[in-house]
Parts: sequence; structure tokens; C-alpha cells
Amino acid sequence: MAPELTPVLSRGWLDSEPWTLAGYQRRDGYTAVKQALRMHPDEVIQLVKDSGLRGRGGAGFPTGMKWGFIPQNDGKPHYLVVNADESEPGTCKDIPFMMANPHELVEGVIIACYAIRASRAFIYVRGEVLHVLRRLQAAVREAYEAGFLGKGVFGTDFDLDLTVHAGAGAYICGEETALLDSLEGKRGQPRLRPPFPAVAGLYASPTCVNNVESIGSVPAIVRNGVDWFKGMGSEKSPGFTLYSLSGHVKYPGQYEAPLGITLRELLDYAGGIRPGHRLKFWTPGGSSTPMFTEEHLDVPLDYEGVGAAGSMLGTKALQIFDETTCVVRAALRWTEFYAHESCGKCTPCREGTYWLVQILKRMEKGEGTEDDLGKLLDLCDNIVGKAFCALGDGAAAPIQSSLKYFRDEYLEHFERGGCPLDPSLSTAWADGPLSFARTSA
Ligand SMILES: Cc1cc2nc3c(=O)[nH]c(=O)nc-3n(C[C@H](O)[C@H](O)[C@H](O)COP(=O)(O)O)c2cc1C
Ligand code: SF4
Repeated sequence: MAPELTPVLSRGWLDSEPWTLAGYQRRDGYTAVKQALRMHPDEVIQLVKDSGLRGRGGAGFPTGMKWGFIPQNDGKPHYLVVNADESEPGTCKDIPFMMANPHELVEGVIIACYAIRASRAFIYVRGEVLHVLRRLQAAVREAYEAGFLGKGVFGTDFDLDLTVHAGAGAYICGEETALLDSLEGKRGQPRLRPPFPAVAGLYASPTCVNNVESIGSVPAIVRNGVDWFKGMGSEKSPGFTLYSLSGHVKYPGQYEAPLGITLRELLDYAGGIRPGHRLKFWTPGGSSTPMFTEEHLDVPLDYEGVGAAGSMLGTKALQIFDETTCVVRAALRWTEFYAHESCGKCTPCREGTYWLVQILKRMEKGEGTEDDLGKLLDLCDNIVGKAFCALGDGAAAPIQSSLKYFRDEYLEHFERGGCPLDPSLSTAWADGPLSFARTSA
């Protein structure tokens, strides 16, 4: 039997106006922060460490450990920066969470800042999502008016200012050091590490950069305790998380479940592959994570399980493609994205992604040869591990993995002198108007 869904972050999404302060307080909102403020900051860090919460931004680094890296009594200002840039293709969890539940993020920010002794926090949101910015700004305003932010948070001697910052819309600004440069008003490009942000981050001061979902998960952990959290998921990947299913499934959307659930089980909730079709390939965590196929349907979707099967859990953005999708075309589209978003700082990524696009374009039109496949892999080898930041590695992932599982499909393009598939059949309207949209809850 599939593990039950665990609506924690998504709890209340169907309530009336769940984004308001009153709506959040009806769901025990702001009770966890009161508990946390009665604890010593180090105890709060220990609690998050004990919970085993791992960062939900992609790499899965333990959140409590990251908080523990912030030096104490150093006389410097400390900062918390919430990474709400969310631009990885397929990734769409932080935005719905912030739209439905902005106060849970604000509550998480207060707890985190108290723990790391920061009196200034930023939520860095991509500027295009104006609706999210407005929703967050309204929540922050409500929190200030209620005395939850500003001077003397909840009547204590802890002061905290929270700013919602709009980025200008660049994928690279989700990389934590590029984000810090952007926040400082510079062009967003990754910084050389060390020093790490925990030592010299925003304005050269100790800074924690955490994903929206990581910070948003903290109030529930404080409210319900470590054992409750560890009762879900696996030993090394405990807890609940948001899985985003998109593409050729009957009911795309957010499914909050314990870590370690499988795609086969998630597909049961999502109504399966769109009617009349079968699974061809899928990404476990956005387009920068090597793709999987049908043979991986039972891989536990936690950090260890996905890693052992040759990919990465990433942002748990499960993009599902059925047999109508050309894998060469998909790899080309993703590579075009990475080439466009390459910040240009280092040669392997700047030049490499450009050439990957040129070769893939040729291949998709059936103008390549088998030798070109070697050239493509050679180029990938010259980017992976040689680029300045993880964008370069991510760019190669769809190409390397698609060649691993679908080399024959590449060859078929050369043999036929073109794509063997009709791209219009993979569209949402191919089987009739909105044939796989859920019409009722
Ligand atoms: C190109 C690139 C884009 C990224 N985009 C995001 C993003 O939009 N949101 C995010 O939280 N992390 C993103 N990351 C990961 C961050 O650098 C960082 O690891 C994360 O924010 C840490 O938060 P966590 O420990 O809570 O997971 C990105 C990394 C790279 C290399
Ligand atoms: S890998 Fe790409 S995105 Fe990262 S620093 Fe180099 S050019 Fe910029």
C-alpha cells in the first residue's frame, strides 16, 4: 500500500484565504515561534539538528548543521537569506507554498533568525512572480502589525527585520553565492569558495542561505517534535516533503508525502500516466538531475535511494514524459535553457553549453552522425567537474542520461534524417481539449 500523503506544508491550502494571518492562526500558526522563543537559541539549533531535516533546495545539506556553522559571539551582524528564486525547469513547489502559506515561511524565518542570532532576514524572490511578491509583502506587513516582526518580537528583547526582495529573473541567482551578489546590488555571478557564506556571506558577514521549503518546515518540527518528524521518511532522509508532478500525468500538482515514496506510488495519487499512454522517461528532481525510465519506478525517492540509482533527488520536481516525447528534443530544450542562463563567468559552461545546443539542434533535425554522439559526450566531459558552479554539471545531466538510456533514439534520427516522432502528439491538447486536467478535487 502506498504511504499516506502527509499534508503539513500543504495543510490548509484548500481553506478559505489560508494566506492571511487569521487563516494561519486557525491552523496553530505562530505557536511554534512562541515555543522556540522560550528556548535557548542553541537548543533550537540542536532540535533542528536532531530532527535530521535536510535542505530542500537541491543538495540536501542538513539544515541544523548549516545553522550551527554560524559563528557566535563574533560581534558581526548575522543574516538569514531565504532562497525563493525557484527556476529549475520542472520545479514548482516554493511558489504554491508561498502563495497559500506565506505566514508559515515568516514563522520559520523568525525561528531560524532567533537560532542563528540574526536580526535581519531577506526573502529573495524572482521578480517575475509579482503575485507571490505581493502575497509575501502582505504577510510580512501583517506580521509587523501584529508585533511578530520589528522591535521586540513577541514582546521579547529579540529584534528582527524581514525584507522581501525581488530579483530580476535569472536562474543563476538561485545559486547561493550568486544570489548574495545579486542581493548586494551586483551582477549575479557565483563567488569563489571558500570563504563559505556561513563565514563571509552577505556584506561579508556570516549568512545562512536556506530554501523556502527548508525554512517553512521548521515551525511544524518545533510544534510537533523531533520524534514526530523522524516518524516519517527514512533514517537518513526523515520527514515529509513536497513532490511536484508535472507533464504527462492525469492530475499534475503537488503531492506532500514522506521521503522515500516511489514514483509508482505517487502515480497512484496522480491518476497515472495520461490515459492511453505509457511512461517513457522522467526526472526525479528537475532537469539538472539525470533522467530515469520505467525501470526506476520503484526507486525510493529520498537522497540515498535516488543517488544509489544514479541520479539526484534535487528539488523533487518529477517531470513525467510519455512515449509521445522525443528525448532528443527534450534534451535540446533543456540545453537551450542552460545555455541561455549560463552566467558567462567560466569558459567550460559559457562555450560548452553553446556548442551543446548547436550539436543537439543538428541531431534533432537528423543531420548528425554516430560520431557526433562521441563529440557530445566529450563536450559534456569537458564541462562536468570543470565548470565554476553546479549549473555546468546540471546542463550535462539530461544529455548524458538520455544517451545512456536512449542512444537508439538518437541513432534513429540519423537513419531517418529527422525526428521519428510527431511533437504535436505530446501536447496537452493532443487527445482532446484538456483531456488530462482534474475537474474536481
Ligand atoms: C544554478 C543553481 C540554481 C539554484 N537555484 C536554487 C533555487 O532556486 N532555490 C534554492 O533553494 N536553491 C537553489 N540552488 C541551490 C542553492 O545554491 C543552495 O544550495 C540552497 O538554497 C541551500 O538551501 P537548503 O540548504 O535549504 O537546501 C541552486 C543551485 C544552483 C547551482
Ligand atoms: S558554470 Fe556556468 S553559470 Fe556557473 S559560473 Fe560558470 S558560466 Fe556561470
